[in-house]
Amino acid sequence: EAIEKGGFEHFMLKEIYEQPKSIKDCFRGRLKANDGKLVLGGIREYSNALINAERIVIVACGTSWHAGLVAEYIFEEFCRIPVEVEYASEFRYRNPVIKEGDIMFAISQSGETADTLAAMELAKSKGAVVLGVCNVVGSSISRVSHEGVYTHAGPEIGVASTKAFTAQLTVLTMIALRVAHRKGTLAEQRYREILVDLENIPNKVAKALETDKQVEKIAALFKDARNFLYLGRGYNFPVALEGALKLKEISYIHAEGYPAAEMKHGPIALIDEEMPVVFIATRDSSYDKIVSNIQEVKARKGKVIAIVSEGDSLIPGMVDHTIEVPGTHEALMPMVATIPLQLLSYHIAVMRGTNVDQPRNLAKSVTVE
Ligand code: G6P
Repeated sequence: EAIEKGGFEHFMLKEIYEQPKSIKDCFRGRLKANDGKLVLGGIREYSNALINAERIVIVACGTSWHAGLVAEYIFEEFCRIPVEVEYASEFRYRNPVIKEGDIMFAISQSGETADTLAAMELAKSKGAVVLGVCNVVGSSISRVSHEGVYTHAGPEIGVASTKAFTAQLTVLTMIALRVAHRKGTLAEQRYREILVDLENIPNKVAKALETDKQVEKIAALFKDARNFLYLGRGYNFPVALEGALKLKEISYIHAEGYPAAEMKHGPIALIDEEMPVVFIATRDSSYDKIVSNIQEVKARKGKVIAIVSEGDSLIPGMVDHTIEVPGTHEALMPMVATIPLQLLSYHIAVMRGTNVDQPRNLAKSVTVE
């Protein structure tokens, strides 16, 4: 086992560090930004159905559902196709409206999640085209899908998903860019620029990993907190949800992820000097808005940890701790901004002495309803 962990103390940490490589593996044979080339061999027969879809429904559970939320924003922005993201367990039991010509994406690391599988079967029986985004080759979900794209992140052992998440984001972004390009909803030059940004993501993730020591120090300060709030807006809203989920899963600290603007409708009541609030506040179209949300938390004496873009000169002066990550196109930011949050949950869990790779009550793959 020590050999399998490749010198890391836990599989989770090894998998966090594998991300520059796993994202590159995901590009292999598919992306060549300099030539404007993006090929997805896994979707051929149904590529026209996808391009002409009037609606896309995404089903998934857990971390994969968070990847689906990011995909919703990306598909709507670039492809102008309406997207709904559903928990597979809700979708399958609520007599959903789904019809011929609809496209369903089923996202799953293991490819064995029972609820996701059942949601796909239901959609198929109503004539929808079901496309899988799976990590495990030959898994049940990949077999039940009409077509699909593998994430190729390699085996993920840690129960808390890390590299599978960033690989899912990579695949879903590639699919959306391909569709947008073919539909003509994304101008050629912008398309080319985003491809270049995408190809650079592994380097940016590697850079974000360099925050590790700093994140570990912050973890030491907050390891005994009883609650955490994670806030983000736009593309960083799902990142907030995922950050909170990581912390809950492995450190057993209660954490909530929220859209930062929605805080005033409830969570703001929880804020006092005991409450750590993690803001994902990188430079994007909602930057000014999130700066005001930070002020609202500071005015109530909350302790703020902010994930910011490199060179941010405003937020560090307002908050207790800042963690800088390299900038990129805002739609790609989740892949970078999620890295320090993975590290934060990891270090807090280690300091609290929990079983990081196999947290209590959780399973890597949930094959029961
Ligand atoms: C379990 C795992 C999570 C995972 C979720 C969905 O709860 O512990 O890490 O996100 O299932 O799994 P899937 O394999 O479908 O992505």
